[in-house]
Amino acid sequence: MNMRISAGEFTERSLQIIRDLKHLEGPMLPILHAIQAEFGYVPDEVKPIIASELNLSRAEVHGVVTFYHEFRDHPAGRHVLKLCRAEACQSMGSDRIADRVRQLLGIDFHQTTLDGAVTLEPVYCLGLCACAPAAMLDDEVYGRVDEHCLGEIVAEVRR
Ligand code: FES
Repeated sequence: MNMRISAGEFTERSLQIIRDLKHLEGPMLPILHAIQAEFGYVPDEVKPIIASELNLSRAEVHGVVTFYHEFRDHPAGRHVLKLCRAEACQSMGSDRIADRVRQLLGIDFHQTTLDGAVTLEPVYCLGLCACAPAAMLDDEVYGRVDEHCLGEIVAEVRR
């Protein structure tokens, strides 16, 4: 865990989130999203707490966390750049763009630049297929992106 809170505070905040949401039908995903919103990622330490509260095994919780690409197992950089890797975007050249962005940032997917500025993540459809290829920087979506436009976005966030 790489957070500036005590273990006790971490457990207390985690339990509060879990207990607020565990009554939902299918509570696991809402809980994981809320945990990631709170801490910036899903720390390993929260998995046994979730397992215990939902009467599941740690392996079951771990399986869900690793199945969904949107959950991080480490803190993100100051900005999160998501590139769509799904079919419509691939057919419009997203692989080539992803190669270029990885080269520009010097990192692969699921990694963060050394200066802590950008975390690069894949995403599987942003609902912008008609404007493929699509990308998302933090909460803002971009359609019909190309290498040039993503190069400018990358330069901007690293300033
Ligand atoms: S496939 Fe990329 S936005 Fe839908």
